[in-house]
Amino acid sequence: MAAIEILGLEKTYMVGFWRKRPKRALHPLHLAVEEGEIFGFLGPNGAGKTTTLKLLMGLVFPTSGSARILGRDWTDPDIKAQIGFLPEQPYFYDYLTAHELLDYYGQLSGVPAKQRKQRINEVLHRVGLTDVKGVQLRKFSKGMLQRAGIAQAILHDPKVVFFDEPMSGLDPMGRREVRDLMEQLKQEGKTVFFSTHILSDAEALCDRVAIIYKGELKGIGAVEDLTSTVQGKVDMVWQGTQVPASIKTLGAECHITGETVRAVISEAQQDAAIDVLRRERLRLISITPVRTSLEEYFVEKLRKAESSAGGAA
Ligand SMILES: Nc1ncnc2c1ncn2[C@@H]1O[C@H](COP(=O)(O)OP(=O)(O)OP(=O)(O)O)[C@@H](O)[C@H]1O
Ligand SMILES: [Mg+2]
Repeated sequence: MAAIEILGLEKTYMVGFWRKRPKRALHPLHLAVEEGEIFGFLGPNGAGKTTTLKLLMGLVFPTSGSARILGRDWTDPDIKAQIGFLPEQPYFYDYLTAHELLDYYGQLSGVPAKQRKQRINEVLHRVGLTDVKGVQLRKFSKGMLQRAGIAQAILHDPKVVFFDEPMSGLDPMGRREVRDLMEQLKQEGKTVFFSTHILSDAEALCDRVAIIYKGELKGIGAVEDLTSTVQGKVDMVWQGTQVPASIKTLGAECHITGETVRAVISEAQQDAAIDVLRRERLRLISITPVRTSLEEYFVEKLRKAESSAGGAA
């Protein structure tokens, strides 16, 4: 069963003060996310990611369209207990401690009093805030606030979680921890839908991604499929600090880092290159087909979207 079905959700805001004019933030969007998936919703600034999440959370009303979550209409009040949400810029009352904040959210989301304390301690541990649970949020760094936001989103053990830019404000370690947390949620059978423009995070995590640009869906698929364009090239890595001249003549693009050399070479020249390495007694470490990265796919899609918009104008 699809955990999230977006059925033509569309949003047009009215902007301007004196003379209001319509601004379409989201064209009718159709999207299905399967249960247990980690789904990345990618797009540059202003693409419509937050708008989509706010629509799904019922925080803004759609111009048209609807959605289903876990097979139920998304406006069904019972479904709220199954959903966790991390807003883009969570704002919490400064003078509460992390523990008090979670106790408050726990009450709101109906976590029974008996289980609340244990649940709060569990999630604080999961997001690495145990040591500061008695500290007021005004003393928290941006990254710590983000973790508190994630803690409130998963406190009531929801089946589907929506995270708007969960890695925002986090340092590389923090981003790694949030990635691990999302993996754990998946292992627990939860569905994770998150927006980001940090492509490497999406690449490392997502079963599937969708790319949205200026409110329109531009591509959707498994990361491996989107990035598997065969380019007829291989990436060879060997131990050494120099590139043999005969490898250069095969047309390889080489980069030396420390004690290893990385060369991108045409697949047709692969055997010849291996022969050279053997002759030169250089130790081959790996040969892998070159794949386009998600970043390249993303940039290419946006470039195409940009040029077709330019052509249409
Ligand atoms: N309340 C609003 N009133 C008018 N326009 C809005 C409103 N909220 C969003 N928009 C516009 O809708 C478009 C989509 O915005 P949205 O915040 O959904 O983008 P986003 O993909 O989340 O971007 P970012 O990566 O910067 O968070 C933007 O052009 C934005 O200016
Ligand atoms: Mg946003």
